[in-house]
Amino acid sequence: MTVTESSTIFHPGPRQLRRTPDDWVDQPYTRFTLRPMSPTIGAVVSGVSMADAVDAELFQQLNRALLEWKVLFFRDQHLTHAEHSAFARNWGALENHPFIRVRTDNQPEDTPEVVRFEKGPKMAGFENVWHSDVTWRANPSLGSILRAVEVPTVGGDTLWADMGAAYDGLSDSMKERIEGLVAVHDWYNTFGRGMDEATRDSLRPDFPAVEHPVVRAHPETGRKTLYVNQAFTQHIVGLDPGESQELLAFLYNQAAFPEYQCRFQWSVGDIAFWDNRSTQHYAVSDYFPQRRVMERITIVGDRPVASIT
Ligand SMILES: [Fe+2]
Repeated sequence: MTVTESSTIFHPGPRQLRRTPDDWVDQPYTRFTLRPMSPTIGAVVSGVSMADAVDAELFQQLNRALLEWKVLFFRDQHLTHAEHSAFARNWGALENHPFIRVRTDNQPEDTPEVVRFEKGPKMAGFENVWHSDVTWRANPSLGSILRAVEVPTVGGDTLWADMGAAYDGLSDSMKERIEGLVAVHDWYNTFGRGMDEATRDSLRPDFPAVEHPVVRAHPETGRKTLYVNQAFTQHIVGLDPGESQELLAFLYNQAAFPEYQCRFQWSVGDIAFWDNRSTQHYAVSDYFPQRRVMERITIVGDRPVASIT
């Protein structure tokens, strides 16, 4: 079978979208309200102050909302670095980014887990490629919590894609084709590109190329999720280079369907908290030379697996 046979690149008509797995039990939210931004992905949370402590019930409800909606938005929060970190720690240990700190000298000193993305006249935004964060790690992030510090007058939106819905939308033959495949992910061609050779070589032993399943089972929902991305996936193991490239190009393109997406227009103080295991995102780079400053914290995740036993 070739990729083209089962390709659905041009397929107008309605999509059958599922927001949650078929066996998911809906429960009411009592601690906040949710306003959906699309049928399956993205919801604005109202009634939560992220600077305050998160008790067990609130954590349980926020985590359920994260699993169901994949990206949660909180308006007007204006967190300090310490508050940002404290909120994120409810979900687990926090990551330190090994490469961004090497390449830029404006990272916050007080909280090394906070990564600052400062874009403007000196450095234009280059995160306008569909990706999920740090899939070059053996254990990519569970989630990312991004805070808007400074935004352009217009533009600089972020889009997210529901990769569970994208998987569902594949033809049966394509699902069969990619079942059990494994892909190599690496940081070398993205973060490595701006580094000198000595720096790259010194980081290599700690961050070798890693393999992840092309279809990941979400560790908390069990849902099958398309888990290759344009920024970090290199090739599919066991396929010849041409076939790997063609298949990956087809799979990458699934994130680009608007039916699987939501789009968020930032104001200063807004927060987006996304499930990095079930989504990809794309930062629109349309505001140069205006400034856009964001701060991100990522939470340590687990090793992606193809199925949950
Ligand atoms: Fe990202």
